[in-house]
Amino acid sequence: MLKDKLDLLYRKQFEELGSLEGTSIQIITVGNDVASEIYVRNKIKLLEKLNCRVVHTKLEANITQDKLNDQVYLYGREFTGQFVQLPLPEHLKEPDIPAFQDVDGFNSSNKKVLPCTVQACLDIIQEIEGDIKGKNIAILGRSNIVGLPLVVECIKLGGTVSSFNSNSVLPKKWDAYDIVVSATGNRFLTAEEFQNVNLVVDVGIHRVEGKVCGDIIHEKNKFLNSKNITPVPFGVGRFTVLNVARNLKKIK
Ligand code: GUN
Repeated sequence: MLKDKLDLLYRKQFEELGSLEGTSIQIITVGNDVASEIYVRNKIKLLEKLNCRVVHTKLEANITQDKLNDQVYLYGREFTGQFVQLPLPEHLKEPDIPAFQDVDGFNSSNKKVLPCTVQACLDIIQEIEGDIKGKNIAILGRSNIVGLPLVVECIKLGGTVSSFNSNSVLPKKWDAYDIVVSATGNRFLTAEEFQNVNLVVDVGIHRVEGKVCGDIIHEKNKFLNSKNITPVPFGVGRFTVLNVARNLKKIK
């Protein structure tokens, strides 16, 4: 079962990680975004469990760019790592985290780590599908933090990659693909469309009627034991969270 394989992979990566004793991290959030709140809560829980010193800096949604920059470049210098949880309110630009502190792998001069969700997708894909050379991979979404860098990494690994975005005409069925990654941030795809795809990686995180769910719409209560679609929760998200800790270890 897919869920069992993911559980095993998670346990293995967690055990390999060991302790983060002696490290520290500043996590900056601005305003309240539903998905961000879920992610940040889980990141803090894991990092503290691993004995990392965590400072969560919560800033008001109407904060100025200068204040946000000061929080990173002045007050953030003392930490082993730091990140600003995205998305930010529209009037703000994401500060470039110095490469030596960049646990997100967003700074282009940081050659040590990949963005946490990209690494999570690659690890899941390779665990379930093995070598992706010559495999047909569809990646939906072209964000700077998931879709775009994942396309590049999959091409580097020899995959045949198709990229879809909100302007694309989507196929009705995805039978031509071995692997589909959904990072659209919207819920319009149904599990039925992917019946003949080996592996679907659902990167989405939404809250519907009080319940956390992914991009893919499942028949009621089927998502937890779908044979080919990673579940939400207990799918990509927890690997993304784990990768903050793994990346912190790699950059320290
Ligand atoms: N928002 C969604 N995913 C991420 C991530 O990996 N890092 C940050 N900083 N913000 C995010």
